[in-house]
Amino acid sequence: MNITIKSPLDMHLHLRDGDMLKTVAPLTASSFSGAIIMPNLVPPVNTKEDVIEYKKRIQEAIGDENFVPYMTLFFKSTYTKEFLESVKDEISAIKLYPAGITTNSEGGVSGFDIDELRETLNAMSELNIPLCIHGETNGFVMDREAEFITIYEKLAFNFPNLKIIMEHITTKESVEALDKFENLYATITLHHLIITLDDVAGGMLEPHLFCKPIAKRPEDREALLRVALSAHPKVMFGSDSAPHPKDAKEASHCSAGVFTAPIALQVLAELFEDNNASLDNLQRFVSDNAQKIYNIKPIEKNIILEKEDFIVPKNYNNVIPMYAEKTIKYNIK
Ligand code: DOR
Ligand code: ZN
Repeated sequence: MNITIKSPLDMHLHLRDGDMLKTVAPLTASSFSGAIIMPNLVPPVNTKEDVIEYKKRIQEAIGDENFVPYMTLFFKSTYTKEFLESVKDEISAIKLYPAGITTNSEGGVSGFDIDELRETLNAMSELNIPLCIHGETNGFVMDREAEFITIYEKLAFNFPNLKIIMEHITTKESVEALDKFENLYATITLHHLIITLDDVAGGMLEPHLFCKPIAKRPEDREALLRVALSAHPKVMFGSDSAPHPKDAKEASHCSAGVFTAPIALQVLAELFEDNNASLDNLQRFVSDNAQKIYNIKPIEKNIILEKEDFIVPKNYNNVIPMYAEKTIKYNIK
């Protein structure tokens, strides 16, 4: 049976720049209607000009494909209301990284002092700009996300009108936090619905599954599956597809990131099917919930997934996708 998904959205995507952008952008553009584009370039996207120029480069890489890149800025506590007013129409969200926590996040926030963040976060609340957060402390790697919950709660409490999106959640603690504050939402990746730390490091080291936040325990994955498969209204799909060149992954000091863009929608459909979840919930998880949370109306684009074995390519130029050379059950028509 074929599955049709209306205007699928990827609410967390890394497209990079240059040749990498040209390799990866068409892969998402052919299977999604739009995506929230992460700003962690070198240097980060933090001016209106950066946003406009980067969006142009993305559109060039995509060519004629019908696809909307929803742009973001890299959060700085120095952004004033005046600046945000001037850039508001060009962006859909602002992404906050704790300093040094992941790829190209050196210029992020340290300390999370509410007074230091107040002006920018109040302005974002007033202008209705969502705040996306990579929620990890610099503590022990398995505990970083759970430790960050107190910061999420502090922000949610102090800025009740700010939409806060807990990006790529990986723990049951984050799932629980969703229902504690009205203004907390979350994205969930495909890989965190499928793998645990065992898949990364339980046997031979699997660098292509190494990412931040690191995959956690079976019970965490179960909690994520529960809210994704039931399409909890506060969760949405965000692949966090994060391509790195093969030699940066298959190396000591392996870069963090799983490249899922070419298989994301197909494997998501397979996952919902294998878990006997409804197609209505799949539609909500990959589009409808995000439309409501972000208040966006994506371009109409029906993606048809055909039930047909598909062998995932070994590589896309110099990037290795998740499930390289493995057979998946759906193919995009
Ligand atoms: O694994 C990751 N890779 N996690 C992130 O948060 C960033 C991403 C990247 O940009 O490579
Ligand atoms: Zn990311």
